[in-house]
Amino acid sequence: MSADDGSDKYPEESGRRRFVKGVVGGATLVGVGGVGVAGVNSATSSSGAGGGTTQSWAIENTGGPAPRGMPMIPIEVDDSGNLRGVWPEVQEVNQGGLTVQIAETENYKGSGTTYTQEWFQYCGVESYTGLQPTYESDNLFRVSSNPAYSWQGEAYEEGDPLNIDDFGDYETWNNEFGTPQGKPATATWRSQGAESTIPVQVIRSKTVERLVSGEGEISDAARSWLQAATDQGVVAWLNKCTHFCCVPGWKQTADAAKFGDADEVYCQCHQSLYDPFSVVQTLFTARPRPQ
Ligand code: FES
Repeated sequence: MSADDGSDKYPEESGRRRFVKGVVGGATLVGVGGVGVAGVNSATSSSGAGGGTTQSWAIENTGGPAPRGMPMIPIEVDDSGNLRGVWPEVQEVNQGGLTVQIAETENYKGSGTTYTQEWFQYCGVESYTGLQPTYESDNLFRVSSNPAYSWQGEAYEEGDPLNIDDFGDYETWNNEFGTPQGKPATATWRSQGAESTIPVQVIRSKTVERLVSGEGEISDAARSWLQAATDQGVVAWLNKCTHFCCVPGWKQTADAAKFGDADEVYCQCHQSLYDPFSVVQTLFTARPRPQ
């Protein structure tokens, strides 16, 4: 399916039409349609701040039209138990003869991975206020006005940070969909006072703890990354489908079982599936931030 085929189904508020039509340098228009590595073009780095080929850790895309997995957000549990998405270190780099600011951390926590904000530069997110390298934020995952899970509505007010204490029943938690795999929550990240909201999904799961501790089939590189990027079994990702940018859900609809697997992340727009417990590296062309 091409990008144009699905444009009618694209949510109005997401502004996709605007950024597709307004893209700087037509050759750089890749990403939403999954052109991938073949579309890499050197014009990318000079047409805006940052952007270009980037390799992210992602939760694996296992079905449907999405071209790749959704990028992970490394997290930390702070001294108060609050969940924080780590933002990379802000630095100035020379790209295409221009000095640009970018948030990027080499060898993130000894994982061997360069963690960069470019992982999140797709679907128009590159123009969000929270993607500005120096946007001031405590980076806590905060509950939105409309959280996806009823337990969140009972435990939190809008704007409250997610707290690890509220995930204490993560080994047994389940709702009416699928089997017990962990306890989920939805939240926003780097979005306070901003017009555009960055949606994230987290799951605290025994499976994550097992993978971190060396159980299960997982590559050394993936384990190193999970050890650096998860904390107390909590995994997080930017919850924007890499197909046409809808917000998927985990255990939020019976359709996930109907079209694939009740225990996988499901995008209702065109039935893409993602496995939250399979992390893979994805190579794609990050869109430049508007200057
Ligand atoms: S937006 Fe098309 S499958 Fe998610």
